Parts: sequence; C-alpha cells; structure tokens
Amino acid sequence: MSKHETFDLVIAANRLPVDRVVQPDGTVEWHRSPGGLVTAMDSVMRGRDGAWVGWAGEAGEAPEPFEEAGMWLHPVPLDADEIAQYYEGLSNDTLWPIYHDVIVPARFHRAWWRVYRTVNERFADAVSKVAAEGATVWIHDYQLQLVPALVRERRPDVKIGWFNHIPFPPVELFAQLPWRQQILEGLLGADYLGFQRVADAGNFVRACRQLLGLTTKGEVVTTSSQPARQVRASAVPISIDYAELEALSRTPEVRARAKEIRASLGNPKTLLLGVDRLDYTKGIRHRLKAYEELLADGKIAPPDITFVQVATPSRERVDAYKRLRTEIETTVGRINGMYSGIGAAAVHYLHHSYPREEMAALFLAADVMLVTPLRDGMNLVAKEYVTCRHDLGGALVLSEFTGAYHELHQAFVCNPHDIEGLKNTILRAIQTDPKDKRRIMRSLRRRIANHDVQQWASRFLANLDAAPHKPRRKAGEEAQPDAQAPPATDSPLVHRS
Ligand code: ADP
Ligand code: F6P
Repeated sequence: MSKHETFDLVIAANRLPVDRVVQPDGTVEWHRSPGGLVTAMDSVMRGRDGAWVGWAGEAGEAPEPFEEAGMWLHPVPLDADEIAQYYEGLSNDTLWPIYHDVIVPARFHRAWWRVYRTVNERFADAVSKVAAEGATVWIHDYQLQLVPALVRERRPDVKIGWFNHIPFPPVELFAQLPWRQQILEGLLGADYLGFQRVADAGNFVRACRQLLGLTTKGEVVTTSSQPARQVRASAVPISIDYAELEALSRTPEVRARAKEIRASLGNPKTLLLGVDRLDYTKGIRHRLKAYEELLADGKIAPPDITFVQVATPSRERVDAYKRLRTEIETTVGRINGMYSGIGAAAVHYLHHSYPREEMAALFLAADVMLVTPLRDGMNLVAKEYVTCRHDLGGALVLSEFTGAYHELHQAFVCNPHDIEGLKNTILRAIQTDPKDKRRIMRSLRRRIANHDVQQWASRFLANLDAAPHKPRRKAGEEAQPDAQAPPATDSPLVHRS
C-alpha cells in the first residue's frame, strides 16, 4: 500500500488537502481544497511523515491512497446520499448554524444524524487502520465529533486530540441539538480538546457540566467512565505560515502583479477588498449595505474608490447558501447599476478560486481589507492580509465577532450589525493618517510573526502530549471500557434520551 503501512501521526479531517475534480473530457485533476483548515494543516503537515485521512471531495468510490508533498493521503469514500445527509445536512445545515449563533435557522433530521454517525464510524475505522501502535491521532472540526470516542473504542493505545476550527456555541444554543449528549460523549473520547477562543473552551466545559452532569474544574472535565478520565479543553488559536506567505508577498512577481491589479482597476485612490467563502457567517450582506449607503450618502464615489469582493464558491447545494448567493449577486448588480460609470465599477465581484500568488497580490494591492463576519471561529484572511503588508501599507477593518479580533484588536474594529458604526469605521480606515496606519500595521504584524501556524501546532501537540493518556486507576482495579455512566440529575438540563 504505502511507504509504511502505519504512521505515528495521523490527521483526520472531513476533507483531504486536495479535491479530486473530473473534467468534462474525463481527465482527473487535483485542486487545493477550500477553507482555513486546509491552509493551516497543509503547512503543518508538509515535511512531517504523517497520514491524512479525509474525503476527496466527490461522490463514489475513494481513490487509492497516495503520497503528496511528503504526506500519505488516505481517502474516505462518501456516496451521494452521504454527502447530502452527513456533509450538506447534519454538518452544514444543522451543526454549522447552531455553532454560528443561528444566523440562519438550523434544520434537524433524524436520518441525517444516522448518516453522520455512520460516516464518523467510517473515519474511525480508517484512522484505526493507518495509526501505528501508540500513534498521535489529531481529529479536526465539527464534522467528526464522534470520531474521538469511536477511535478510543477501537484503538485504546493511541493518543487522541481534537481541534475545533469553528466556534463552540453557548450551552443555550448547543442544548437545542437533539443529539447533544452523544456529541459531548463523542468529544470526551479525546485526551485533549483544542478551541479557538477561551470562550469556546468554556462553552464546551459548561455544556459537559450542565447537560451531562459531569464534574468540571477550570479547563478539566472528569468523565463518568470507570475508571474516570480527565479531559482538558483549552484555547489554542490557529494561525498561518507567516514566514512562507511573507516571503511570497515580497517576491518581485507578486509586487508587480499588485501594481498591475491596481492599474487594471483604474488606479483608484482607495481599493477596498473582501475575501470570503460565500457563507452567511461572513457578513458580506452587511458589508455591501454599508458600502451602498456610503455611496448613496455621497461620502465615497468611483472612480476614486472601488470595491473588489472575492466570494469563493462554497456548499452550493445547501438552500441557505443558494439564497445567499442570489441575494449578494442581486445587491452587487443593483449597486453597480446605480453607482458605476463606464470603466469605473463600484463593485468587482469575483466568484472564483485563485492561486496563492494572486491572493497575495490582491492583499498587497488593497488599501482597506474588510473582514466583517457575524461570527467566525478565527478568520485566517485577516491574518494573511496583515502578513502580506511588509510595506506597512493598508488598513484592516475587523469584526469583533471573529476569533482573530482577540489577537488583532488594534485593527479598525467594527460590529457588523451596527451599519452606521460600520460605515464610520470604513471611513476612518480610509482617512486615518498613513503614519498612524503604519504604526497599527506594524503591531498587527508582530503578533502574527510571533504566533504562526507552526507554533500553534506545537502548542496543540504539547498539550496533547501532556494530557493524561491512561485513565486514573485505583490500586488493584482493572481498566473498564470507556462507557459513560448516567449523568447526575442535579441540573435542570440533564436528562437521558
Ligand atoms: P474559512 O475557513 O471559513 O473558509 P478562513 O478565512 O479562516 O475562512 O480561511 C479561508 C482560506 O481560504 C484562506 O487561506 C484564504 O486565503 C483562502 N481563500 C479564500 N477564498 C479564496 C479564493 N477565492 N481563492 C483562493 N483561496 C481562497
Ligand atoms: O473550519 C470550517 C470549515 O468547515 C473547514 O472544515 C473548512 O476549512 C472550511 O470551513 C471550508 O468548508 P467546506 O469543507 O465545507 O468547503
């Protein structure tokens, strides 16, 4: 099968770092997968001798495992029905809204849950197959929340960590999930759980206390298994490969391309930029509303200003995403109809994926970067923008509802729900004295330079390493399977289904 049969480090994530795409003429191409998880983990895994277990992005039989950039990629098959129920359904139409403040209503379907469980079992089987004796298994994100306990059942010898790339919701929202107990028990199969923010780890610990009736102390949850295990949940905010992206943005090609982009936009005085997956959590609607009102108020006007919005295709078969796309594209059309001139578009809307060099050039070209999510676990785009600004130019407008805000609070901070406030923040980011903007940019860059993705991975793995792996056992006591005993009943929210 491979250079090895098994590996000391195994990653499990819903997606592999590359998607298999079959072209109309039948040729197969592998494209980089979308999203922040892949951006981060791809850098971490390059050069490490590990395996990555994940879905190859299309329905049907999985391709044979293969090697890519030093990683062993082990595809997990999903059929069309599983994609609809596990990925588009339970993961992205139930969990995603609940974990993002119910910006759109969550949909609950028992059939989706059954398929979610089946797929999580398949991932656990695949992980168990490629993990060497005593391996470190690092599971990622909300799509695989049952995998920690399922791997523990199959492979009690391995160390299990889980990291959540998205927020973990307050207990009042999490409690809506009909399968809340199974999810918490699934996660508690890990030895260590990492979250983006202190508040996310706190929400998880509180959910264990209030919904499972477990004892908690600070960051540690004591399971009700016999013997008990202690599971720590703490914050380790994810980051990017600062050195690599910084170097890319300094290359003559990227700098020349940045100039070329500005020139092809008519060398505006101010270039605004947004880069997001086309997702309702990203606040693109609110951003466009603020921009349209600024144009209507006469505060800004093309050709002095223009706005490039990159809206990356995402989860296109889920209804909420279809509706969002229609709404955004209608709004862009209306704004351009009202405020563009010939050769002076108010909004440039780009619904594509781009190579990393082009992204770096866009970041280097933009005077103001608009990162205005309503809720976002981290937002790596904010960190990438700052990293590319080795010239200390540009200004970052950043929503306080992103994980990134907790590290980059010197940015031009906004509450995207407050349209008047958002308009004022955009104007401030445009008008602030360049000297002050350089000072801000320098301090934002320092933060990312000192907290990059390699450091994040080392912190996560060190926390996992420090976690007590074996259950605490009293003298003479035999180890028991890791079943959860019924919870205490002193909490009004504790009841077994
Ligand atoms: P999320 O994980 O929710 O998509 P992040 O901001 O954390 O959001 O990460 C998005 C990642 O995807 C970043 O690395 C960003 O540069 C990349 N990205 C977003 N849009 C595009 C695009 N159109 N083409 C190429 N890369 C993109
Ligand atoms: O972290 C959130 C997440 O779902 C990641 O798993 C992934 O990086 C990104 O969003 C893209 O989502 P999808 O894999 O559904 O296209």
